[in-house]
This record gives sequence, C-alpha cells and structure tokens, in this order.
Amino acid sequence: ADALRIGIAGLGTVGASVIRMLDAKAQELTRQCGREIVVTGVSARDRNRDRGVDVSNARWFDDSVELARSQDIEVFVELIGGEDGPARASVKAALEAGKHVVTANKALLSRHGVSLAAAAEKKGVLLNYEAAVAGGIPIIKTMREALAGNQVSRVFGIMNGTCNYILTRMEAEGISFEDCLKDAQRLGYAEADPTFDIEGHDTAHKLSILTSLAFGCRISADDIYMEGISNITQADIRAASDLGFRIKLLGVAVKTDSGIEQRVHPTMVPTSSVIAQVHGVTNAVAVETDYLGELLLTGPGAGGDATASAVTGDIADIAKSRPGFQHGPVFGWPARELTPYKRAR
Ligand code: NDP
Ligand code: HSE
Repeated sequence: ADALRIGIAGLGTVGASVIRMLDAKAQELTRQCGREIVVTGVSARDRNRDRGVDVSNARWFDDSVELARSQDIEVFVELIGGEDGPARASVKAALEAGKHVVTANKALLSRHGVSLAAAAEKKGVLLNYEAAVAGGIPIIKTMREALAGNQVSRVFGIMNGTCNYILTRMEAEGISFEDCLKDAQRLGYAEADPTFDIEGHDTAHKLSILTSLAFGCRISADDIYMEGISNITQADIRAASDLGFRIKLLGVAVKTDSGIEQRVHPTMVPTSSVIAQVHGVTNAVAVETDYLGELLLTGPGAGGDATASAVTGDIADIAKSRPGFQHGPVFGWPARELTPYKRAR
C-alpha cells in the first residue's frame, strides 16, 4: 500500500518525541500497519531552533494552516497547544479539507470538541485524541470503544502529571512547591503556561472530555468546580500524613438523579488506598460501570515519550484504516446524539 503521509504542527516536547519515535520504530510500524508512515510536512514557530531531531526531509511550513490544507498530507497532527489560535484554525482547516486529525490538545477539545467532532463525522475522517487525557494511558480508546454499551456512573482520578509530581516530591523529599514546579517544567511535563496545571484548568479540560465520553453529553468545562494545588503547603501535607492521608489533585464526574456533577480539587485520600500509591508523573483514571464494575488504569501521564506513544498509536490507527471505511463517532456517540449538558442541582 502507499505510504501514509502526515504533517506535524508543533515540534516542542511532544512533537519532537513523536518524530523520534516514528523514526526509531519505522520498521515495526510498517509491519503493523501494512504501510509506511512518512512525515512529509512540519510546522513550528522558529525554523532555526535545534530540536535534536532531523526534519530536513519534510517540507517546512511557517503557517500551520497551510500545512493543514497541504495536498502532501492525509493526516494532520496538531501538537501546538492552546484552545484557539493556530491550533484551532489548523485543526478546523484540516478537517474541512478532509484530512484525518490527531491531536494531544485537551484545551482545544474541551472548548470546541463537539463542533470539531461534527466536522470530522461529516467528512468521514478520524479525529483521534488519545494523548489529550492522561498522557500515555489509553483511556480514550477504553471509554470510546471497549466500554460500548456500559452505563457509566462515575469517572475520577489523577489526571495531571505535573501536580502529582509536585505533591509527591513535596511529601517525599520536603522540596518547595516552586522548586518541584521548575523540575516539572524542565522535564517537559508542564503546560506552556503552568498556571493551567497548578490551578486545575488542565485537569478540568481532561475531566470535561471524559464526562462527555462517560455520559454521552456535550462537553462543559465551564461548569466544573475547580481548585488547584498552588496553596498547598508542607504544613498541609504533614497534617494530612499525621492523620493517615495523602493529598491528591482529583478530577471527579458523577451522574446523579438531577444531572452531572463535575469537580476538580485537592483531596485527602487514605494513605492505604490505591489512589494514594500513585506517585510522581503517574496518572490514574477510575471508571465505574454497570456491566464491567470498577476499572482503574494507571501509567505515565505526561512527558515526551509517554505522550508520543499515545500519538503514535493514533497515527497507526489511521494507517491501518482502509479507504471508504466509515469511521466511528469521535466521542463514542455521534456528535448530533450528544445530549445537552445538565448540571446536578
Ligand atoms: P511545547 O510548548 O513544548 O511545544 C509547542 C510547539 O508548538 C513548539 O514547537 C512551538 O514552536 C509550536 N508552535 C507555537 N506556535 C505555533 C504556530 N503558530 N504554528 C506552528 N507551531 C507553533 O508544548 P508540548 O509539546 O509540551 O505540548 C504540545 C501539546 O501537547 C499541547 O496541547 C499540550 O497540552 C499537549 N500535551 C503535552 C504533554 C506533555 O507532557 N508535554 C502531554 C499530553 C498532551 P517553537 O518550538 O518554534 O517555539
Ligand atoms: N501538563 C500536563 C500534565 C501534560 O502535567 O499532566 C499532560 O497532559
């Protein structure tokens, strides 16, 4: 079969790791997908920046929207970030041009996911976003595909690697909040603006996507009660520990008789509980359903390689799909079937 031609916009922590993985795993991917995956176009802000990866064989685009529309690509991979700006403009342009899209951008999906899903479904193309929630953990495929038919009652967990890394090191090593955050940034875990991590926005974005998958409703991040970890002190952590608890930033979505309740806040969890044993950049997502019961997925929630693993899986799915095949809905239910969001009283 012909090679799958992809364009990658955003060559930062995640973009560079994806290029590295596609290169290192080229043989395995070709065998698994039955065709080669070739990066034919790339885009970032600074053409001259050394990214430690070789993109000289790909055509350079200063404008990600131009790359998104380019005849040379069948798949547009958006790794820029941000809910609007070039990320939204180029994903929209790619879908309208009938290209498949892969994105790791939870801020974008949280705000515009339903309209983007409708555009993908109208064009019969895929919009894959495994890396957008909980980094390398395959929670999207699990909820979208493996849990079909299940009625979900609750989804919750640790969904931000930066915050869990900070809380873990503050407790285990007594290091200050500021120093832990600097390390998380250096390791490539944090968002470009780390306020999104530490004030809970990033967890809220991810939770809003999982809520839609869980309950078949439209996405609503505005409705989420949100409190971050920036006010957590060593004294708080020690006080929790003395009482047999550990502080974790949790995202929780529950279906009640009156509607849906979504919240993000630091939570005291018993030290002996499974969720308390989730350390460092690891994330954990729990789902409770009528047929399956309780499911808990844990794994690396941020960082270049873990995220590249999820993005590469999404690209490989597209490489394996065959022309003319009708793709499933983006959020598990067709976008037009998603029910209006109803907040619990
Ligand atoms: P970075 O800040 O490291 O990289 C962003 C990239 O986007 C840079 O290469 C930058 O270019 C490029 N960029 C900025 N503006 C434009 C533009 N107008 N046109 C084209 N390219 C542009 O971010 P990350 O790699 O960490 O994150 C990327 C996405 O992945 C975000 O949506 C993030 O939320 C998500 N994500 C990140 C994870 C992580 O662990 N880091 C995990 C899961 C998801 P230049 O390099 O020239 O400045
Ligand atoms: N900044 C995010 C985190 C990246 O720390 O979890 C993964 O989405």
